[in-house]
Formats: sequence, structure tokens, C-alpha cells
Amino acid sequence: MSSHHPLVIGNWKMNPATSAEAKALFLAVRKKVKRDAPVSVVVAPPFPFIPDLSRLSPGGRLPLAAQDVFYEDAGAYTGEVSGSMLASLGVSYVIIGHSERRALGETDAQVNKKILACLRRKLTAVVCIGERERDLRGDFFSVVEGQLRALCTGLSARQLAAVVIAYEPIWAIGTGKTATPEDVKEMQLFITSVLVKLYDRALGKRMRIIYGGSVKPDNAAALHEAGGMQGFLVGGASLKADDFGAIITSVIS
Ligand code: PGA
Repeated sequence: MSSHHPLVIGNWKMNPATSAEAKALFLAVRKKVKRDAPVSVVVAPPFPFIPDLSRLSPGGRLPLAAQDVFYEDAGAYTGEVSGSMLASLGVSYVIIGHSERRALGETDAQVNKKILACLRRKLTAVVCIGERERDLRGDFFSVVEGQLRALCTGLSARQLAAVVIAYEPIWAIGTGKTATPEDVKEMQLFITSVLVKLYDRALGKRMRIIYGGSVKPDNAAALHEAGGMQGFLVGGASLKADDFGAIITSVIS
């Protein structure tokens, strides 16, 4: 098991509507993060809010994640944002390969290149994987294994150890259908076993794996205790400071 504190990331997606609302939400979340608490809390706002929020987080008390990054460092790529731009604004994490981006056409190969872009800029990549649906034959394990193998392409054990894997079954995202703690534990063991096969036991133990998909204050403690993962990627509930605060508390044992 990884020796890091649990990691709780709030993925705000395309919310809220204005910078003023984003600042108010950020400050409300910041109040929920006790200075010495054994947990790492990160907020992933939309790109335009990052500079303002970065100024509200002196010393990186509430570190910021971007919700995406482009894999080239500079050039004629209209609309894209590079890792160096994000690093220059004080961003320290980047969510990569979220299922909502994959649904817009992002491929496993692009996810892999984006991880390499993060590694070049010392940004922590939080890479999302997960099956669209579960079947009784267990074919969803091969889907997850395929995504894992693809994201690891060309990465050394040292490089992969700097990455966080977010297991987010698509059927549980924004639907209120959470995977059971047993499902989550089984997937944590499966992901670890694939990493041990691809690399070695030391890496399998070191990797940080977190869970996402309808994590709420009322299921977070059970998911954390029995699910065996090292934290959560939270969507909807991260937009309410009280709910997000309750989820943060649930991972502090
Ligand atoms: P949810 O989203 O918590 O609203 O299900 C999770 C995510 O998409 O990261």
C-alpha cells in the first residue's frame, strides 16, 4: 500500500458559471481543510478560474488540478493548453482521460502522450480508467486491463510511480449508482495485480489508486474503509463545500 496520505480531488467539471462563484466555493472548501490533517485535498476548477484560485491558495494549501492538458509543449494548436502554462500558474495535478473527455474522442494513445507531458513538467497526472458497464462474465476486467496497459506504454516504473490512477466506472459517474465497497476492493486488487505483472511487486505496492463515481457523504466512509483505495475523485458532491468537507473527513482515520 502507498505511504501517501489519502488524496481527495474535487472535479468541478464545467462549473460554476462565474469567477466570483468559483472564488466563493474555493474559499468555502479551503475552510474545510485543516492545516495538519492527514489528507491531501485538491480542487480541479475549469481553466479560466485557475489564476484567481491560485492566488487564494498561498503555499499551495489547497492545490489545484487542471481537468485536461495538451500533449505538445507549444505551437499551432488552437484552443489547447500546455503543461508549462499550467505549471506557470501553480497547478500541480492534471486529470487525464476522464470518461467525459474520452466520450468526446480522446484515445488511449492521447492519454499516454498527456501523461508524458505531465511528467516533463513535474505535474501529477491523475489518469482515469473504468468500464462503461459491468457484465456477468467479467469482461469489464479486460476493458480496465486494456486501458491500464495503454496508459503504461513506454513508462518506466519510476515514471508510473508518480502517476495516480483513478478507477471510475462510467456507469457510476453522475448517476447515483455507486460501486459497492466489495466491487471497489476487487478492482483495487485487480489493478494492482496488472501493475505487478507489467512491472513488479514494489510498484504495485507504491501506486496510488483512487475511486470515483457518485461518492457522497453517506457512502464515502464505507467506500474508504472497505474499498482499499487511497482516496476519491469527486464530481457532483465537490460543488457543495459541506458535502465535500464531509467526504474529506471520512478518509481521515
Ligand atoms: P460524480 O463524478 O462524483 O458526480 O459521479 C465523478 C467524476 O466524474 O469524476
